[in-house]
Amino acid sequence: MFFNIVHHNIILTKMLNSLLWPDAHPCLCLFAALVMCILVFSICQFVKMLLFPHQESMSQIPPGSQGLPLIGETLQFMAAINCAKGFYDFVRIRRLRYGNCFKTNIFGQTHVFVSSMESAKAILNNESGKFSKRYIKSIAELVGDQSLLCASHQHHKLIRSRLINLFSTNSLSFFIQQFDQLIVESLHTWENKGTVIVLDHALKITFRAMCKILMSIEDGQELEMLQQDITHVCEAMLAFPLRFPWTRFYKGLKARKRIMSKLEMIMAERRRCSHPNNKQDFLQQLMTGNDDKACSEQVSKLTDSEIKDNILTMIIAGQDTTASAITWMVKYLGENQDVLDRLSAEQFHIAHKTSKRPFVTLEDLNEMPYASKVVKESLRLASIVPWFPRLSLDECEIEGFKIMKGWNINVDAKSIHCDPILYEKPNTFNPSRFDDESRPYSFLAFGMGGRTCLGMNMGRAMMLVFLHRLVTSYKWKVVDSDSSIEKWALFSRLRTGCPIHVTPITPD
Ligand code: HEM
Repeated sequence: MFFNIVHHNIILTKMLNSLLWPDAHPCLCLFAALVMCILVFSICQFVKMLLFPHQESMSQIPPGSQGLPLIGETLQFMAAINCAKGFYDFVRIRRLRYGNCFKTNIFGQTHVFVSSMESAKAILNNESGKFSKRYIKSIAELVGDQSLLCASHQHHKLIRSRLINLFSTNSLSFFIQQFDQLIVESLHTWENKGTVIVLDHALKITFRAMCKILMSIEDGQELEMLQQDITHVCEAMLAFPLRFPWTRFYKGLKARKRIMSKLEMIMAERRRCSHPNNKQDFLQQLMTGNDDKACSEQVSKLTDSEIKDNILTMIIAGQDTTASAITWMVKYLGENQDVLDRLSAEQFHIAHKTSKRPFVTLEDLNEMPYASKVVKESLRLASIVPWFPRLSLDECEIEGFKIMKGWNINVDAKSIHCDPILYEKPNTFNPSRFDDESRPYSFLAFGMGGRTCLGMNMGRAMMLVFLHRLVTSYKWKVVDSDSSIEKWALFSRLRTGCPIHVTPITPD
C-alpha cells in the first residue's frame, strides 16, 4: 500500500515535470515528487478530518508518534532491525517514553503495542472474536497463504485441528529418541574441537531433527540445500518486498519455489510407491489423513497446498526458535555457576539411572524438575518471540484506550517477562523463581489461547535433551560474553552465536 502510493505519485510527478520543465535536473524532479507525495497525503488527512471529525479523538487513542507523513516510523524500525540491540529496542524505547500502551506507524499502518497481563488475556484468548492473527502480506507470500500463520479464523481452525494430531504423546516419545540420537552423535564431534559456536550446532541439530520428523529427509547434501533455501526464506521475511533479482525478498521467493517443488516431488514419489505407509513422519500422516479421530469426526483432509505450506511453516517455526533458545540457555548457564552446579547434580543422577539405556525417554524428561525450570527461565529472559501480532477486527477498548478497526495490535510479551512487579529482579537468571506456579498470562514464551505454539512440548523436549547431554558430557566456558542481537534475524538470536570452550568430562 505504502509503496503503491509513493510509486504512483512519482510517476504522476514525472509526467507533470516533463510537461512543465522538460529540461529539469533529475534531483529536482525527485524533490518535486517528494513534495507532491507529502502534499497529497496532507490533503487526504485534512479531508478525512473534515469528513470524520470524531473518528480519532486524540484524548482516547493511545499515545505515541505517527512519525513522518506516509512513512511513519518505518525508518526507525528498520534501523532497529539493523542494530546490535535488536529490533525489540524500537518497542522498548517507546514503551519507556509512552507507557504500557502506545501506538506507532510502520509500513503505512498503525501498530499498537500493549504490555499488561490483562490486555494479553483479552487479545490472546480472543473470547470477543475481535482479533485475528496478522502477518504482513510479504510474509504470507513466503510461507504461503494456506499456512497456519496466515489463514483466516475458520480456515485456521480447520488446519490446526488436523495438525494438532501430529503432536500426540506417542509422537513426542518417538521424536525424543530420534532427537537424543542426533544430539549424542553431534556432541561426540565436539571432543577435539576446543571452541564451538553453540548457535551453529544448535541450528544444524534442530534442522536435522525437524526434517527427519516432518519428512524423513536425512541425506547430508539434501539437508544442506534445503537449509540454504530455508535461510533465504527467513531472511526475506523482514526485508522490503521488492522483486528485483538482487533483493533478499526475491531470493526468498525463489527459495520458497524450490522448497515447494521438492515437497511436490516427495509427495508424488510416495503416491507412486506401493508401501507409502512405512514412513512414520508428519508428511505421511497428513497425506493419508489416517488417524482415527479425523476419520470418525469426518474432518476433511488437507489439500496438497495446505500440506506443503504447513510443512514449510513448521520447519521455520520449529528450527530457529528452538536453536536460539538453546543458545541463550547455554550462555545463561555458563554465566551462572551456582545454577549450573545444581543442575549438574540433578542431571548426573538421571544419567546414572538411565545408563543402561541408549536414549532418554519422555518419562526421564518428566523427572527433571530443576532442568525444566532452567528451560522456562531461559525462555522468559530471552523472549525469543518478543511480541505477537494481531489485527483488530472491530473498534474496541484496551487499557482504557480506543483501538480502531483495522489497526495492528501487538502483545509485547518481552515487557511482561521483564516486569519487576511480576518477576523480582527480572534481569537476573534465577530458575528457582518458578518454584511457585506462574500467574496466568505472566509467562508467554509459547503464546496463549487459540494460537498457542503447536510445537511447545517438542521445543521444550529438545531443550531438555540438549541440556541433559551437554551437562553430563562437557564442562564449558563462554568465550565471548557479548549479548548483542543478530541483525535481520526473525527471532531474538545472539550475534556471536555464543562461542564456548568445551572440555570433555571424563568418567571417574
Ligand atoms: C523453544 C522453541 C519455541 C518457541 C519459543 C516457540 C514460540 C512460539 C510462539 C510464541 C508462538 C505463538 C505466536 C503468536 O501467538 O502469535 C508459536 C506458534 C507456533 N509454533 Fe512455536 N515455538 C517454539 C517451537 C516450535 C516447534 C518445535 C514447532 C514445531 C513444529 C513450533 C510450531 C509452531 C506453530 C505451527 C505455531 C503457529 C500456531 C498457530 O498459529 O496456531 N514451534 N510458537
